[in-house]
Amino acid sequence: MKIFLDTSDLKEIRRATDAGLIDGITTNPSLVAKVAGDRDPKEIYLEICETVNGPVSLEVVGVDRDTMVTEGRKLAAIHENAVVKVPLTEDGLKACRQLVSDGMRVNVTLCFSVSQALLAAKAGATYVSPFVGRIDDISGEGMQLIHQIRQIYDNFGYTTEILAASIRHPVHVAESMMLGADCCTIPPKVLWQLSRHPLTDQGLEAFLKDWETLGANL
Ligand code: E4P
Repeated sequence: MKIFLDTSDLKEIRRATDAGLIDGITTNPSLVAKVAGDRDPKEIYLEICETVNGPVSLEVVGVDRDTMVTEGRKLAAIHENAVVKVPLTEDGLKACRQLVSDGMRVNVTLCFSVSQALLAAKAGATYVSPFVGRIDDISGEGMQLIHQIRQIYDNFGYTTEILAASIRHPVHVAESMMLGADCCTIPPKVLWQLSRHPLTDQGLEAFLKDWETLGANL
């Protein structure tokens, strides 16, 4: 399963790429707004694309098909790593079809139902992003959606990759893997949580204490 980092924060992106742990990045307008300050978001997008050796999802902000297509072309021109992100609306699906026909990769975002995911695949999306955390937030079962999408994509041979998004905690990541999501986009805090286990800490402490009794060096 591919791991993407869900952030526009370059410090966090560098921390994860230095560790060799991530396959790509997803951004969205809210994530960019958190870090941009006075900077032009397009500059930040370029820096992210130059930092990461993998797909970087950059989102359009237009709401009609033609504006999304125009913005999508501009975003894709920023860097070869750019993947255009469009919302799962009627216009977003039309824009997806056009951008894919023009040779671009598209991530269809804000997916909340299996029928929406079917249409994303029909529109030729490279990725579909089901937002599991936001479904859980309204007392739904986000993971059920991953399971359903996996089933219909396998039933009919759709190659659109399932990109589990709106991840809130390590259990979401584990369940996405078990259910066969192709990728999972993870906020930095959750990525580092994945590495921690209290038994690892306890075990390491005991090993180091025992080693100390030897008074030896490696
Ligand atoms: C996906 O690409 C989105 O950026 C993201 O996962 C949204 O998650 P949120 O519900 O934490 O905002």
